[in-house]
Amino acid sequence: MPCLIAASVDSAVEMTLVGMSTTLPAHTSIEPGILYFGTPVVLISTLNEDGTPNLAPMSSAFWLGWRAMLGLGARSKTAQNMLRTGQCVLNLPSDDLAPAVDRLALTTGADPVPPRKVERGYRFVGDKFGRAGLTPVASETVDPPRVAECPVVMETVVEGTHPLADDDPAQRGGIVVFEVRVQRVHVHEQVRMAGTSDRIDPDAWRPLIMSFQKLYGLGPQVHPSTLAQIPERLYRGPDIERARQVS
Ligand SMILES: Cc1cc2nc3c(=O)[nH]c(=O)nc-3n(C[C@H](O)[C@H](O)[C@H](O)COP(=O)(O)O)c2cc1C
Repeated sequence: MPCLIAASVDSAVEMTLVGMSTTLPAHTSIEPGILYFGTPVVLISTLNEDGTPNLAPMSSAFWLGWRAMLGLGARSKTAQNMLRTGQCVLNLPSDDLAPAVDRLALTTGADPVPPRKVERGYRFVGDKFGRAGLTPVASETVDPPRVAECPVVMETVVEGTHPLADDDPAQRGGIVVFEVRVQRVHVHEQVRMAGTSDRIDPDAWRPLIMSFQKLYGLGPQVHPSTLAQIPERLYRGPDIERARQVS
């Protein structure tokens, strides 16, 4: 049985395995301004007061079951539209749509542009679909349109809002975390797993990832996944049956 001994040294942790020695990198305490390690980009479509669509890139998003959690600046037009209408569409761009997503960067559908955004160089754009060069198509269960070019699209309704940093008066009210429930999932055939009716093929699905404000794609699978031994059908929850009731 090999014996592992760890000892802290100036710049590294030295791991001594009986018979051989190896050096692991040490940790250094730092204070990054942002902690955006890498999440998929979502183009959220919502409806403005006058019925025109808004479209905004965001990436503070994750999914659990048929629910998604979305972190949005409270003054963004998207957050205001979601609070007012209770609806949005989550359009997931593939990595080849990065130029279209980038054309939406530093734009807002909010007029006037909030002061903090003016400082950062944002400008008002009324027609975000036109600005991005993307095509709106009617959704089936909600009013905001889908983005035709996105290989994965989810029609959703807002089920809850959660304040972020509510404990700190200086930050309170700045960010809203939306809990949305998916009512319909649409995919391009190219990302549907061959021979299945309801699975997405992660080898075919190339999400666009935002990491520290930069845009990336995914490389190929790096290791066989033990988690993937669980059949996807075991994850199916009651929200799927509920979504079927909506026409
Ligand atoms: C790649 C990318 C990711 C972004 N992620 C977020 C995010 O997670 N949350 C957020 O509030 N804003 C995010 N933004 C900034 C919004 O797009 C920005 O606030 C925009 O003005 C929102 O548009 P709207 O005001 O028309 O809703 C992101 C922007 C880009 C380009």
